[in-house]
Amino acid sequence: MSLLLVRQTTTFILLCALCCCVSVKYEPNWESIDSRPLPNWYDESKIGIFIHWGVFSVPSFSSEWFWELWKGQKIPGVVDFMNRNYRPDFTYADFAPQFTTEFYNADEWADILAASGAKYVVLVTKHHEGYTNWPSKVSWNWNSMDVGPKRDLVGELAVAVRKKEGIKFGTYHSLFEWYNPLYLSDKANGFKTQDFVREKTLPELYELVNNYKSDVIWSDGDWETTDVYWNATEFLAWLYNESPVKDSVVVNDRWGKNIRCKHGGFLNCDDRYNPGVLQKRKWENSMTIDKYSWGYRRRARLDDFLTMEDITSVIASTVSCGGNLLINIGPTHDGKIVPIFEERLRQMGEWLGVNGEAIYASKPWSHQNDTLASGVWYTSQKSTNGTSVYAIVLDWPDNNVLKLGAPVASHASMVSLLGYKGSLTLTPGTGSGVTVTIPPISVNEFKVRWAWVFKFTNLQN
Ligand SMILES: *[C@@H]1O[C@H](CO)[C@@H](O)[C@H](O)[C@H]1NC(C)=O
Ligand SMILES: *[C@@H]1O[C@H](CO)[C@@H](O)[C@H](O)[C@H]1NC(C)=O
Ligand SMILES: *[C@@H]1O[C@H](CO)[C@@H](O)[C@H](O)[C@H]1NC(C)=O
Repeated sequence: MSLLLVRQTTTFILLCALCCCVSVKYEPNWESIDSRPLPNWYDESKIGIFIHWGVFSVPSFSSEWFWELWKGQKIPGVVDFMNRNYRPDFTYADFAPQFTTEFYNADEWADILAASGAKYVVLVTKHHEGYTNWPSKVSWNWNSMDVGPKRDLVGELAVAVRKKEGIKFGTYHSLFEWYNPLYLSDKANGFKTQDFVREKTLPELYELVNNYKSDVIWSDGDWETTDVYWNATEFLAWLYNESPVKDSVVVNDRWGKNIRCKHGGFLNCDDRYNPGVLQKRKWENSMTIDKYSWGYRRRARLDDFLTMEDITSVIASTVSCGGNLLINIGPTHDGKIVPIFEERLRQMGEWLGVNGEAIYASKPWSHQNDTLASGVWYTSQKSTNGTSVYAIVLDWPDNNVLKLGAPVASHASMVSLLGYKGSLTLTPGTGSGVTVTIPPISVNEFKVRWAWVFKFTNLQN
């Protein structure tokens, strides 16, 4: 009797679990699309690398330059440069054969990307000028197999990245193409026709997902019209219900000019979005190591690149407020991640190697920044031992004394400094606040640079 009951209960539970999984079917509307829980891997990852690479990497002249040339606009600096260096009838398309990628070694890239501590990569597969970095069937003579590299750039990186443990592969894709005649004719019809979406945008998205199993679809180029023209919810319902990545994929919010910062998976809002306060929904700060450009820029000076202090600061402020950081590099037309980007990425990995406990899989704490000290950002982790609170301190404390306003401590509270084996002294304030006294530390026993993480346990808040 009792055995039967157990068996029946087990069957019932099994059936239930099955029902739940089978019955979740997303409808092509935002309420249903938004109801899908974001797969956990995304929030836990915290750090991704964005890669802007394409025909624009050939002129590598300035950030927005290649659009202007294509549009025939007369930007004075660009016109002078072109007149001095190219024949008069040279067009943007003429750069494509020079997108040679002869030094592109995807395994070498994957080594650098993995060494950065990032947990996902987002590669530009097609930017607004429509050139696809994979042999798309719907981008005839304007793709990386037909002109330029004669290689499947996306496929090579997807394979190389997936050889690494714990790092996901994502694809950036521009919905629109500024100069595609099909797009322009739909636009001239007030977006009542969808020829471009039918012939180009959707087939490309299906190719990317089916061929490369994108873990992230980072959509862009949405802003001239609404999600209705793009058939965004129809595509996302397919992606979430039927695609080969339906359980693991995450998407952003750039699916129409009325959608950004409101609907989708995680919210990107604007480029370099970093609100500095806790957000209700999962969001991502996409930004660049070269302050002035997404693509490679031959004229960049050392000063134009973020320092490691800048990078640890943006990691701290982003992650504390519930965001992920998607940090961008621009490889060269011949396929190299130049040493300045490689160094920043490897150094970021060095910092995360010691301090990752405060970052990966962390949760925002009750305070994001300190109430007293500036340049201090908090994260937290729950474990069976209770909650640990991490104060990421961007400037080494004056006289080795750190005074914080937010933590509430008792005599049972403890503090340590990540990467340092010795002990520190914690003095609870009256009411809230703590004072941490750091002993004199030799540079030989403690090599952490750029930002420091103090870990508190047994706090009262
Ligand atoms: C967009 O979705 C609507 C509604 O399902 C459908 O009738 C239309 O054919 C789709 N358009 C494209 C280009 O797929
Ligand atoms: C903490 O952040 C808030 C909101 O951005 C800001 O107003 C405040 O000045 C910051 N506190 C300190 C001590 O910097
Ligand atoms: C819990 O605390 C013990 C003793 O300090 C430590 O060894 C262990 O790693 C901690 N567990 C977690 C999940 O933090």
